[in-house]
Amino acid sequence: MAEGSAKQARIAILISGRGSNMIALADAVGSGSIPNAEVAIVISDQPGATGLEKAKQRGIETLVIERRGRTRAEHDREVVTALRDRRIDLVCLAGYMRVLSAEFIGAFRSRILNIHPSLLPSFPGLNAQQQALANGATVSGCTVHYVDETLDGGPIIAQREVAVHKGDTVESLSARILVEEHKLYPDAVAMTLKKLSIK
Ligand code: GRF
Repeated sequence: MAEGSAKQARIAILISGRGSNMIALADAVGSGSIPNAEVAIVISDQPGATGLEKAKQRGIETLVIERRGRTRAEHDREVVTALRDRRIDLVCLAGYMRVLSAEFIGAFRSRILNIHPSLLPSFPGLNAQQQALANGATVSGCTVHYVDETLDGGPIIAQREVAVHKGDTVESLSARILVEEHKLYPDAVAMTLKKLSIK
C-alpha cells in the first residue's frame, strides 16, 4: 500500500465454505467501517463453496483454485500469482481449510490474517468449539491473528470472549461465537490496515 496516500487497500479473502466472515468483511468495507479498502477478490479452493455465490452477488470477483492432486507448494504458487496479479495488500483467511505453505506465508509476510473460533492459544486446530466443550471451558471466544508458519500460533491482533453456557452444544456455542467473529474480524482488519498505512 502506498504510504500516506488515499490509495485503497486491496483485500483478498480466501474461503472454503459458507463465507459468513467474508460477507461480514465485505459489508464492513461497503459501509465504510473498514475505510479506504476494497475487497478485490474472493478465492476458494472448493468449487462448491456457497460463499462464492454470495460474493458474486456483491459484485466481487471470484476465483476457484483447486488443489487437483498438486503439492501444497504448487497449489499455493497459483494462489500467490493470482494475488500478485491483483496487487493485493492484505489476505484474509475466512474459513479457508488449508494450511499455507512457507512460500505463501513468506510472500505476504505480516499481511495474512486468520480468524479462529477460540481464545488462542487455547484450542488451536480443527473443531475448536468442540475442544472447548470437551475441556469444560466456561469461557471461549474468537481470535484474529497473523498467519505464520505455526498452526494458529501467529501474533494475536484481537480477541473477544464468549461465555460457554451450561448445556451448550457445538452448534449453540459455535453460533454465539460466530456472532462475535462477524464483529471482531472487521475491527481487526480496520486496525491492521491503519497500522500498515502509517508504517
Ligand atoms: C469460522 O468459525 C471461523 O472462525 C473458522 O471457520 C469458520 C468459517 O465460517 N476459521 P464462515 O465460512 O466464515 O461462515
